[in-house]
Amino acid sequence: MPAYQLTVNGRARTVDVDADTPLLWVLRDTLGLTGTKFGCGQGLCGACTVHVDGRAQKSCQTTLKEAAGHKIVTVEGLSKDGSHPVQKAWVAEDVAQCGYCQPGMIMSAAALLHRKPHPTDGDIDEVFADHVCRCGSYPRIRKAVKRAAGGAK
Ligand code: FES
Ligand code: FES
Repeated sequence: MPAYQLTVNGRARTVDVDADTPLLWVLRDTLGLTGTKFGCGQGLCGACTVHVDGRAQKSCQTTLKEAAGHKIVTVEGLSKDGSHPVQKAWVAEDVAQCGYCQPGMIMSAAALLHRKPHPTDGDIDEVFADHVCRCGSYPRIRKAVKRAAGGAK
């Protein structure tokens, strides 16, 4: 079995597990990065969202073989000290309730703002329609995305 190389949060990692292992479990079980959450395992909830080469991607639907050679960023790698604008906005708007879905939400928000620094309501709806929050944090997520974009104080 060949070892696979990927860059995770700026660090080169070599992973020696089955090629078809979902990236989610490589991150959580092999690399100990438990910020990325397991929700459904079927690409339906977004809890497992990470960045792959800067784009939001569901790590439960991405195999190690597909992730190999790419730059992966997890919620732990967004900033060292919680200073990313999305993280600061999330705190300011008190978005999280139970918090379980929030790493995925934050990663999708960061990718959206990178792609579209001033997203419309439609842009935000489109991204978060793909995420499930059982606590109903969607209105606060919208406010936090706008705050991070500089549109709300
Ligand atoms: S755990 Fe990946 S989308 Fe739900
Ligand atoms: S904050 Fe509880 S599931 Fe989203």
